Amino acid sequence: MDPSGPRTAGQLPPARAAESGTRRNPAPARPVAQGVSRSGQTSEQQQALDSGAASLPPRARGSSPPAPLAAFAELIQRHRRAAGLSQRELAGRAGLSERAIRDLERGSTARPRPRSVRAVAAAVGLAGVELSAFLSAARTDRPEPAPALSGGPDELVGRGDAVRALLDLVTGGRRRIVTVTGPGGIGKSRLALAAAAVARDRAGLDVRIVDLSALADPALVTEVIAEAFGCGGASRLGPVERVVAELRGRRAVLLLDGFERLVEAAAEIAALAVRCPGLTVVTTSRRPLRVRGEREVRLGPLRLPDAVALFAVRASAGVPSFALTDANRPDVTAVCRRLDGLPLAVELAAARMRVLTPAELADRLERPLALLAGGPRDLPARHRSLRATIESSLALLGSEAQRLFAWLGRSPAA
Ligand SMILES: Nc1ncnc2c1ncn2[C@@H]1O[C@H](COP(=O)(O)OP(=O)(O)O)[C@@H](O)[C@H]1O
Ligand SMILES: [Mg+2]
Repeated sequence: MDPSGPRTAGQLPPARAAESGTRRNPAPARPVAQGVSRSGQTSEQQQALDSGAASLPPRARGSSPPAPLAAFAELIQRHRRAAGLSQRELAGRAGLSERAIRDLERGSTARPRPRSVRAVAAAVGLAGVELSAFLSAARTDRPEPAPALSGGPDELVGRGDAVRALLDLVTGGRRRIVTVTGPGGIGKSRLALAAAAVARDRAGLDVRIVDLSALADPALVTEVIAEAFGCGGASRLGPVERVVAELRGRRAVLLLDGFERLVEAAAEIAALAVRCPGLTVVTTSRRPLRVRGEREVRLGPLRLPDAVALFAVRASAGVPSFALTDANRPDVTAVCRRLDGLPLAVELAAARMRVLTPAELADRLERPLALLAGGPRDLPARHRSLRATIESSLALLGSEAQRLFAWLGRSPAA
């Protein structure tokens, strides 16, 4: 995630961006479109992308197909327009009849055939997470290739399945609260932000993002949420009432990033979700909220090849001459295996390429916590070293548990 980003930020959807200068905002909004390019569209295409309902085909609006079909219909139309194709041209490229495309765009094809869905995706040039979102919206169950690794610092490495699972839960709208859990540094925020970007830019959902990592007081959570929905500030109504009124009849997604220290606010979040039927709340947290209606998505380590790819991307960002070669791959792989595929640890290890070779690093990993310090200064303090991450996790434990942790960590000789 954006390490230098503001600590508390409400994300404006495009349609409301014009209001941003007039309303009170605790901090500037942070970009949601991480890793998702919206460039290359004409203003008409951009408008079609930005205004969800306006771009629905007239028949779909009038005859109201079931919500998932309407969402998929809209998605096809958006991608077709973004690619600058007519229905006939898309049909030609996808090897389908023009009528098949028309029916898909009306939402009148009850079960789009996976082969047709893939043909349309290929015809409009979808890949990576966009392809995942598209297949997920069409409810096809075929495995898809992992997102392409472009090497950009904001690019999500691997995690194709997790993005797809998360998007499925979010776009399906069947779950009120989805919590991405896992240890510090495993990639919860990165994953949730990437999925949020796709949900907004490709599924057309109104997505608001609140970074809670620096908020210490659970009592302020709902006010910060109200700010994110553009209804913050003094009012005789409480923040929950304001958000309920704001969201009446609306579909929206709220990402609460870094909830673990604010679990006291969990009941309020659950109540909010119940009172706003169109709202899906996604939280990232080291532990689940434990409220009704919650679905937990547990995030495990990166797969080894993805961890190696992440190492290579980060190492070459720090040392442009670094390249993964047949000669150094075994050492890099050993390092990543030794670090259990924990992305934060892999990034900190890659930062050592300024002073060590992969072979030296693999050797020195005998003392991992001391070695993996000195990450970039613009990372949050709790992510600058592995030790700091463990210490910030430890601070979440009660004193009994902390004593037990200290006791478990003693070496037998101590
Ligand atoms: N799949 C990934 N691709 C690229 N970078 C990642 C990935 N997962 C995690 N990271 C990076 O690893 C670090 C820790 O990830 P983060 O999402 O902040 O972890 P968490 O929220 O679980 O504490 C961040 O710098 C993040 O950008
Ligand atoms: Mg996080």
